[in-house]
Amino acid sequence: MPFAEDVKLGFNSHPKSLSAKYHYDALGSVLFEAICLLPEYYPTRAEAAILERHAVEMVDALKGPLELIELGSGSAAKTRLLIQAVLSRQARLDYHPIDISSSALDASARALERDFPGISVDGTAAEYLDGLRRVTRNGSGSLLVLFLGSNIGNFDFSEAIVTLAAINDALRPGDALLLGADLKKSKTVLEAAYDDPLGVTAAFNLNLLARINRELGGHFDLRQFSHRAVWEEQRSRVEMYLVSRLSQDVAIDALGMTAHFDAGEAIFTESSYKYDARRIAELAAATGFEVAKRWTDSLSRFSSSLLVRR
Ligand code: TRP
Repeated sequence: MPFAEDVKLGFNSHPKSLSAKYHYDALGSVLFEAICLLPEYYPTRAEAAILERHAVEMVDALKGPLELIELGSGSAAKTRLLIQAVLSRQARLDYHPIDISSSALDASARALERDFPGISVDGTAAEYLDGLRRVTRNGSGSLLVLFLGSNIGNFDFSEAIVTLAAINDALRPGDALLLGADLKKSKTVLEAAYDDPLGVTAAFNLNLLARINRELGGHFDLRQFSHRAVWEEQRSRVEMYLVSRLSQDVAIDALGMTAHFDAGEAIFTESSYKYDARRIAELAAATGFEVAKRWTDSLSRFSSSLLVRR
């Protein structure tokens, strides 16, 4: 569904919500890269540490030659560790990144082709499953699908199952999925990761409203909203909101509507589910995968699982 219709639907819902995928326009994608550099946002570094240590073992678990598809590739910074491992055992590699942000895709493709002479990058600007349907694999070797970071966490369990089942459908026996998943931990650590003192995460979330202003003729005063992140233990997820500081009416020209916000009213923008080993195993079992191996970082903050299609 296009942005305008989704925004209209979200603002007419109770409670109000905005779809998380719209965080990633050109500015949002750059803000997310900044989040990944924050000391409080540990998932990027924890996953990078796992890949630094185990990328060769991950790649060696599959029969060559290998081809890579990545869902939500972003800057593909961590992917470099896997690309390096693949190119140490084969001279050429087809890499198919899929990302909703075409600017992130273009920048990462250029940088990878400059740094890895053996790579051929063909990017698809699309949502995960649309992109997956549009990619055609070139070779007859194994396919490794990468779903890194905490991307799976932004889905409810039922959506995660639909997504992994669709990935499984696109694979042949012996192909695999490398799945990143952030693990449950203390409220303090989790809430700091999603609400940093520098305000980068707040800016990333507020960019949703800025984007409505830019693209849909919205009249949001960003200073009248604040970012909130709450760890909900029961649901095992961090919930993100934009909270109206006062009672206000905001016109959105392209939608021909005015949205009313009560003082303290929250717009739900995203959840980030946190996993444990059992939940990852359940997800794999429900979607036709076998957990071939699972790695964690030294502090058990994050996990990478190699799921092989049965
Ligand atoms: N996939 C990221 C995560 O769940 C997305 C993310 C990080 C995010 N920080 C955020 C989404 C803040 C919304 C608001 O970790």
